[in-house]
Amino acid sequence: METKHFNNQKQSQDDAALLLQQGEVVAFPTETVYGLGADATNDEAVKKVFAAKGRPADNPLIMTVGEESQLDDYVTVSQPAKTLMKAFWPGSLTIILPIKPGMVSMLVTGGLQTAAVRMPANEVTRSLIKKAGFPIVGPSANLSGKPSPTTAAHVAHDMDGKIAAIVDDGPTQIGVESTVIDLTAKVPTILRTGAVTQEELATALGQEVVDGTSKKALAADQTPKAPGMKYRHYAPDKDVYVFDPLDWFDLQGVLQPSDAVMAEDHLLEQLANKQQPSWSLGQSLQQASENLFAGLRYFDDQAAVDRIYVQAMPDMGLGKAYNNRLAKASGGRLFQGGDRD
Ligand code: TXA
Ligand code: MG
Repeated sequence: METKHFNNQKQSQDDAALLLQQGEVVAFPTETVYGLGADATNDEAVKKVFAAKGRPADNPLIMTVGEESQLDDYVTVSQPAKTLMKAFWPGSLTIILPIKPGMVSMLVTGGLQTAAVRMPANEVTRSLIKKAGFPIVGPSANLSGKPSPTTAAHVAHDMDGKIAAIVDDGPTQIGVESTVIDLTAKVPTILRTGAVTQEELATALGQEVVDGTSKKALAADQTPKAPGMKYRHYAPDKDVYVFDPLDWFDLQGVLQPSDAVMAEDHLLEQLANKQQPSWSLGQSLQQASENLFAGLRYFDDQAAVDRIYVQAMPDMGLGKAYNNRLAKASGGRLFQGGDRD
């Protein structure tokens, strides 16, 4: 199949909407990462998404909408859900809600009685979904297990020849996937960290919100609630190590020519060996999140690089989402610095 490359103009949106209506798979931009879109109400179309990604079939998909009324037939929107939609939509929050019995395909829910719903901030995509006229499934547009794509070129790298089209609206702004909150649990529970934080959610709801991804919560309950979180994810082929910025000088002492480093500018400026392969994570937590997956993908394609060392960020707010994705990419491998005394 020849994959069409569309820009963000109206004609492209019309062409892309038509392909979706024909049951084809179209990759779309969001503010977090690029997604793989297909008609969520058409099982043959949804099957093509699993096939293109190589994704296990028990991992449920997000239903992505362009406006709230596109949810009416499929899920029950409770009062707290309305509150969160008002506060954070369009935006980087996915909400788990009960489905209306028999209204959502098992392929989308993975057999659960709940569905994940999201309205992304990207306007091109919202207008595309409204034109198509139905919710679209929207897993990240990477091959299963690889880092999520933050540019159309990343999508093409993984999906060219496998899907009907890619809609290009430039690099994504947030760079890590949306926060997932489960409103069907006794207490609202975060299943995946993202740009919308636990504190913001608790403030909007006016009640406690549990971080189900914290070490404490995981120790209390071993079963992963978001089925996707149990799979190796976000991982390049190269070995990834996380380093604490306090260990920057110790790390420099052991770097080999085939080692790459990903760090903020203030650290890279202090890199003694200017030949060392390096990738800038920018000058803030926000920029680091935006640039993380692109750097991992870049070095994965560099034959001369064997190992990638990536800077950890403070574990607060968006930093929790950043560190979570990095922990998955590294399989928990840490660079052990020397004595810091
Ligand atoms: O930012 C994002 O959310 C991106 C963009 C493209 O919108 N999409 C994305 O989709 O990351 P995906 O399918 O890769 O991640 C959806 C997550 C998975 O961890 C999945 O297991 C979980 O949400 N999930 C989906 N339906 C669920 C359900 N009914 N109950 C619990 N978790 C669910
Ligand atoms: Mg994904």
